[in-house]
Amino acid sequence: MIIFARFMSLQEEITKRKTFGIISHPDAGKTTLTEKLLLFGGAIQTAGAVKSNKIKKSATSDFMEIEKQRGISVATSVMSFEYRDKLINILDTPGHKDFAEDTYRTLTAVDSVIMVVDSVKGVEEQTRKLMEVCSMRKTPVIVFINKLDREGKDPFDLLEEIEKELKISVQPLSWPINRGSRFKGVYNLHKKNLNLFRPSTTKVADEIVSIAQLDNKELDKLIGDSDAKRLREDTELIEGVYDTFSTKEYLAGNLAPVFFGSAVNNFGVQELLDTFLDIAPSPRGRETDKRFVEPEEKKLTGFVFKIHANLDPKHRDRIAFFRIVSGIFERNKYYKHQRLGKELRFNTPVTFLAQDKNIVDEAFPGDVVGLYDTGNFKIGDTLTEGEAMNYRGIPSFSPEIFKELVNTDPMKSKQLEKGIAQLTDEGVAQLFTQQPGNRKFVGTVGELQFEVIQYRLLHEYGASCKFQPINMTRACWITSENKEKLEDFIRFKSTSVVRDKDDNLVYLAPSEWFLKMEQDNNPDIQFHLNSEFKTEAM
Ligand code: G4P
Repeated sequence: MIIFARFMSLQEEITKRKTFGIISHPDAGKTTLTEKLLLFGGAIQTAGAVKSNKIKKSATSDFMEIEKQRGISVATSVMSFEYRDKLINILDTPGHKDFAEDTYRTLTAVDSVIMVVDSVKGVEEQTRKLMEVCSMRKTPVIVFINKLDREGKDPFDLLEEIEKELKISVQPLSWPINRGSRFKGVYNLHKKNLNLFRPSTTKVADEIVSIAQLDNKELDKLIGDSDAKRLREDTELIEGVYDTFSTKEYLAGNLAPVFFGSAVNNFGVQELLDTFLDIAPSPRGRETDKRFVEPEEKKLTGFVFKIHANLDPKHRDRIAFFRIVSGIFERNKYYKHQRLGKELRFNTPVTFLAQDKNIVDEAFPGDVVGLYDTGNFKIGDTLTEGEAMNYRGIPSFSPEIFKELVNTDPMKSKQLEKGIAQLTDEGVAQLFTQQPGNRKFVGTVGELQFEVIQYRLLHEYGASCKFQPINMTRACWITSENKEKLEDFIRFKSTSVVRDKDDNLVYLAPSEWFLKMEQDNNPDIQFHLNSEFKTEAM
């Protein structure tokens, strides 16, 4: 066997990589910013390539549209490109709120995040929810305040709003000069230079004027007396309020640097990208149920955070997206699938460089490899070189809408069972089963999923079903060290206690108020808001 010398050490491969996600409330500019970053990185040549990935708000009942989007989003699930000797992996997150669960899971596979906020609308509902997920995991966040070319809110007010609503300290690293039709550019507080605004939706490079000292008279000439005066006052205020920027605090998830700009006009994007490359973390280790795994460890470990069904219903294979946490992934090498206790090897693993799927021979920590799968994987599955451990941190959260799955073609029960099991393995929705009776409840975060499930069950499995509304709005995973009390609770609440796919006990509550009441009435029982509770006792 010929062994080729590796050009780079594992450590060098790790340091080279940055794996992150761009998140926002729909319409804040996530797709536009992603596209601009790809343009800067040379991964795409024309604008519009990523745009088509969006599921438009109007598409709520257009199945074909959903199917089409599913196809496109396989291609754009991971976008990798090289820029300034770094390898950047952008993991795409669906903007549509009905697919929020997908986004939460993708956030387990990134090492940092860029959060886009619309300067006109400020912090919105999805921004808040996504930030909660980042805070929970201490993910470093950079905020990009977008659409400065519109008459937005005052930048100081925006900073205060972000700090208050998202519960994170912020520090501006760039500062806008006026806004809306009078938007003149951003002053880079970090590098102390001025980037003047010349709207352009196609141009990549903008001219940067270097002004090291703000008392330089050149500034008045460039942006006019009153804006220059204002900028001097603003920066003085900022410098008085904020300490020197601490990368350490950012990496610890305590401090979010803020950039201002206009993604559609390519403005402020360069500053963002350059600073991102300087400060964003390289691939980090992850916690398992046994121990913390460092990326530098020689043996391969990683987990599946997303599963995508093949579009062709005749071939039921799927792509499992596997995030490498440690070691080197090698094609055709056997790895241990922890949940199944089975050795698996992958003949055609793919990566996603510049939007092309390429078969890879090896991949490194931080990379996402697409593994063709015939039904072995569930979201959250771990592969190792033998060590018995499972990655944590891919919990299920309470869905918001619950419906009962009713079989409308008894001749196709088997297909329905199989179909719903596979679709929920993919993470399209959560499945809860009630015994006795085998009643099936499907929980989602949006109405759209029910339509997707119904459509896919019919087209991919030949099973027909309908969904019946049930009076439940909240799921809580329940445990107790007091076996008797737990059994009593299950007996008394038999119509509200179900099991999730991993056989964990779940209490379904009709309302927040009811849940609170049950919690108060049953102090011996622990109600967990996600499936990854630490208490292992039943
Ligand atoms: P999303 O992925 O977060 O949902 O947002 P997306 O990038 O699709 O942007 C939403 C809308 O905001 C788009 O307009 C986009 O062109 C616009 N936009 C993005 N960045 C800026 C900016 O800096 N300034 C202004 N004024 N608008 C911006 P659209 O009308 O929905 O789509 P399109 O027809 O322009 O493609």
